[in-house]
Order: sequence, then structure tokens, then C-alpha cells
Amino acid sequence: MSRSAHPAGPRHADVLTEGHYSAPAADLNVLDEKVWSRTVTRDADGALTVGGIGVARLAEEFGTPAYFLDESDFRARCRAWSEAFGPDADVFYAGKAFLSRAVVRWLQEEGLHLDVCSGGELTTALDAGMPAERIAFHGNNKTVAEIERAVEAGVGRIVLDSFQEIVRVAHIARSHGVRQRVQIRVTVGVEAHTHEFIATAHEDQKFGIALADGQAAEAVRRALGLDSLELIGIHSHIGSQIFDMAGFEVSARRVVQLLAEVRDEHGVELPEIDLGGGLGIAYTSDDDPREPQEIAKALSDIVTRECESAGLRTPRISVEPGRAIVGPTAFTLYEVGTIKPLEGLRTYVSVDGGMSDNIRTALYDAEYSVALVSRTSDAEPMLVRVVGKHCESGDIVVKDAFLPADLAPGDLIAVPATGAYCRSMASNYNHALRPPVVAVRDGEARVIVRRETEEDLLRLDVG
Ligand code: LLP
Repeated sequence: MSRSAHPAGPRHADVLTEGHYSAPAADLNVLDEKVWSRTVTRDADGALTVGGIGVARLAEEFGTPAYFLDESDFRARCRAWSEAFGPDADVFYAGKAFLSRAVVRWLQEEGLHLDVCSGGELTTALDAGMPAERIAFHGNNKTVAEIERAVEAGVGRIVLDSFQEIVRVAHIARSHGVRQRVQIRVTVGVEAHTHEFIATAHEDQKFGIALADGQAAEAVRRALGLDSLELIGIHSHIGSQIFDMAGFEVSARRVVQLLAEVRDEHGVELPEIDLGGGLGIAYTSDDDPREPQEIAKALSDIVTRECESAGLRTPRISVEPGRAIVGPTAFTLYEVGTIKPLEGLRTYVSVDGGMSDNIRTALYDAEYSVALVSRTSDAEPMLVRVVGKHCESGDIVVKDAFLPADLAPGDLIAVPATGAYCRSMASNYNHALRPPVVAVRDGEARVIVRRETEEDLLRLDVG
């Protein structure tokens, strides 16, 4: 899943012999700007501040665990993506990474489009006033009710994911008297991991329609034959947390090949291609993400080159970054509870959250960094595993890291780069209350998603 998918011990430490780690090279008090959001720094007393506000105040006002989202960083990343791609391309923020009404408003203000993949995300987007024509609707199994809602709202595009869906959307559009703009999602035979990709003839997964065996060309044939569909282009999303551009280049090349085949067979030049999301971010100091300019240049160069050689007009490009926009903008703040040193192994540091607010470590073996943020410390580094309070030994937040040996219950620690797929995948396991998301900007903090309460839990449980 991530570059750090394979457990190899602390990434910022040298492995001496199996099970023993050297002290980290970096000073634990120094916050690596690669993994922290842009306004994060330490104040004169050594406490972390974000947007000019110290963590002690944030913890007191909003409690822990909580996600703190650096709004100016979020907006800056939106701008960086849209400036990098320029006026001839569209940037769709992938709402599955994290979506709320405040986020939808920021996206609008920063000129982005939005990719939604469920009725719930669509409702959030529309409720916050995102113009429907700026919305792309995704999903491998959209329900009839969801499609009807999307068509009625007038979404800018529905991304078709199967032969059945081509007919289903065409039928619903016709019955609403609408010519629905659609793209066809294809699987290009590139299985992207982190810094490797494996080209396969057939993709053994649930998304999209395969290019390899002519299925995608057949899907285009069918979509072009249906009056209630306006086929505007081809979509490809190759995976997530990818650092290497090679997979995107292969994907772009194969999509352009399909455009050329469509032109040859139907005399139609489809005007758009969407190359999906999936760009990696830094979770630890060892990760080296690409900048939006570099990504934009690589993608537009390859599309332009391939189109020139196929004699095609260059289509409008769109991309769908989720993690790369919101991931680095937030950290999770926890209070340290029980500390359990295991002689000869490591010290288990329990926090007041866990797999209910960050399932990624348990699910993908994802790696994270962690820092003591309520103060600095000159104590020796100790090897720790940060764990949650759930009834499960796999309830791990940070598998291997170093924290100062004088860590004590009541200290605040923070895990950076939790803006993507943490709150959006949070659960109520053990009847945990999902933490709030607090937006911080220019000395002001405001809740954009409130903390769940026990009343919320009881309200769902109708007895
Ligand atoms: N477009 C499509 C069609 C997608 O399926 C996805 C992600 C994206 C865009 C955005 O990808 P991003 O830029 O955020 O990587 N829960 C996993 C990630 C699942 C991604 C699913 N699709 C995780 O926590 O890593």
C-alpha cells in the first residue's frame, strides 16, 4: 500500500542486529518539516504550535484525541495543484480522503473540482454549495438511487465502471430527459505499488473495464451508441501512495492509445482524459514525495507527446489528488496514558485513541512518525510502539519510533500526516467516540467536524 508497507524496523534508525535499533540520528525535538504541516513549529517553551496556537491550549479547548487541520496549508496545496496544472486542466480533490462542508467551501474558493464516490459524499458536496457541474461521481457499484440523485443534481460527469452501469446510467438519464456527461474508467494493466509497478495482462480487481482484451473499446462502442450519454473521455486511476511517475506514464500512454483507436473506429476524438489520484506523501522522513509542478509536467509532457505521435488533439487532462492535498495538513493529538516498558523489547506507550481514529497502521502496515509536542526533552531516546486503547493487540498507531525516555502520562504526543484516510475511515470500535476535526488558521481554531458523543451512539441504538 505505502512505500513503508513492509515492516523493517524504525525507518529513521539503523538496524544493528535483529530486534535492536540504534538511537535515531535526528534530534527528537526537531520537527521534520517534510512530515508536519506548513505552519507547525515549536514555541519558545518548546511546545508545538499550529496556525500560531499551542497544543496545550488546543488540547484544553478541544480535548484529545483530535485531528488539527492546518487550513492555510490545505489552501496552499490546492493552489499549488491548480497552478501546476494550469487553465487547460482540472484538479478534482478526492473527497474520500477527508470531506466536510468546510472543506467543500475551501475547494470552491480555491477553484478546485470534487470527486465523490457515494451518496453521502454527494450530499455533503451539494449541501455545502459545490456547483454540481464541478462534481465527478465515482464508484464500482453506484446504486440506482445514487445515480438518480447525481443525474437530477446535474453532476458534471459520472465515471462509468462496468457494462451494466453504462446501461443503467443511460436508462436513468433518458428517463430524466438528460444527456449525461460520462467517462469510462479503464484498467490499464499497470499495478502500481510504491516505487515499482507490475504490468499485467488482466487486472484482478473490482474497478474499471480492462483495456487489454478489448473490453474498454467495447465499452466505448456501447456508450457512443446511447443517445442519453455524452462520452467525454477516459479515466484511469492506478493506485495510491505512489512515488514513481513511471506507472502514470504507462497509464497515460495506454489511455491515449485508446483515444487513437476510438478516433480510428468512430471518427470521434474524445476531449478529456482523467489520470486519477494516488500521489504519495511523506509519512516519515524517509519518504520523498513529488511536487505538483513535477507531476503536472511529467503528465502533460507524456500526453502531449503521445497525442502528437498519434495525430490527436491534446485532450483536457484532469487529476484527482486526495491524500496529496489533505494528508500532510493535519496531525492527530493524543494524550499519553499508560507506559509499559518491556525489558529487552520496547516500551509500549498507550494513547487515548487508536485504531478507531487511525486504522491505516493495522490495515496497511502503514508507517507514521510521532513526536512529544507538549514540551521538548533532553532525555535519551527510547524505542516505543504507540498503541491505542482498544481491545486488540493489533491496535497500533505507530509501530516503531523513538520518544524521549522521560515520557510521562499526561504528556501530549502527535502523529503527523493524518489528514487523509484517518477521520474518513474512523470507526466506533469499542464504542469509541470519533474525534473532532479542528481547523486552525491565523491564530483561530474552529471545529469543522465535532466530536461524537455518547448521546450520538445511543441515538443510533433504537433499543
Ligand atoms: N481517484 C480515484 C478514482 C480513487 O479511487 C482514489 C482513491 C483517488 C482518486 C484518490 O487517491 P489519493 O490521491 O488519495 O491516493 N484508504 C487508503 C486509500 C484508498 C484510496 C482509494 N481511492 C489509504 O488509507 O491509503
